[in-house]
Amino acid sequence: MDLISRIPKVELHLHIEGTFEPELMLKIAKRNNIQLPYKSVADVKKAYEFTSLQSFLDIYYQSAQVLLTEEDFHDLTYAYFQKVATQNVRHVEMIFDPQTHTSRNVAYETVVNGIWSGMQAGLKDFSITSKLMLGVLRDLTEEDAFVLWQQALPHIDKLAAISLNSAEQGNPPSKFAKIYQAARDKGLLAVAHAGEEGPSEYIWQALNLLKVNRIDHGVRCTEDEELVTYLKQQQIPLTMCPLSNTKLCVYKDMSEHPIAELLRKGLCVTVNSDDPSFFGGYIEENYRAIQATFDFSDKEICQLAENAIQASFLNQTEKQTLMDELNNIQQEVCHD
Ligand code: ADE
Ligand code: ZN
Repeated sequence: MDLISRIPKVELHLHIEGTFEPELMLKIAKRNNIQLPYKSVADVKKAYEFTSLQSFLDIYYQSAQVLLTEEDFHDLTYAYFQKVATQNVRHVEMIFDPQTHTSRNVAYETVVNGIWSGMQAGLKDFSITSKLMLGVLRDLTEEDAFVLWQQALPHIDKLAAISLNSAEQGNPPSKFAKIYQAARDKGLLAVAHAGEEGPSEYIWQALNLLKVNRIDHGVRCTEDEELVTYLKQQQIPLTMCPLSNTKLCVYKDMSEHPIAELLRKGLCVTVNSDDPSFFGGYIEENYRAIQATFDFSDKEICQLAENAIQASFLNQTEKQTLMDELNNIQQEVCHD
């Protein structure tokens, strides 16, 4: 087994609805008697040609329409764990988008209970630990976010963090300062998509106004030298998703992706998969894609794995268990 297969992996940027594989989508659509504009898996895959974040979101929200029952959300979540158990994924911090479902009259409880039971089954059957992050859709209003918050409050024990997702351009973090304050007051941690398609100014806003613990994507930090210096000094984790960024045309070619440059400058960058069923790969394929482009040393691959462990919301003991395992592998293979 090579190093990328062997390292214990921690996934920090994953939308559970973005793991919906076409086979399962068609199966659940049939079970729920829902018509999709696709007849076969090949038809579905043909639709996965994206030109921007919005072109992807249109298809992503459409596919989520087939999810109706607790069983559907359980099956979606369980299938993800089953898949990544083959990639030595040990811990996952996943985002879910309740507003995508409550807007179709699927109850918040149905969504959260189904995903939660999938997470418990993932722990039992594959020994993968996980945490759940509440996704706020930024193209909806602050008022909508507070409606979601009221639905989430009775189940807050299931949540580790709040997260900001969906169409970034024109929907700055500043719009959600109050809901982030409410979430932090209840003890949640905070992450936000920033600097994916939107400007580096949105990364500053996420840090200063939302007081996030991590930035999702953050690739456009490279446009602001002062920001890069700050991210390095503070070791703010950036959960990067290389296959997502090339698939959504943020970069024409992987060689333009800033992950290698930022890692080599000493920033806390991590490798993640975002919406793996739509972007052609789970976490391991993301590691392989950047390795093929940037020729990382064994030490750099181990640094990426370490960054993810340290940037996770696990406690110190849990982090140390994964670090011990990584250090053993590193001692065996890293001679550079
Ligand atoms: N929701 C699902 N995937 C997303 C992404 N890459 N950016 C913003 N919102 C998302
Ligand atoms: Zn994302």
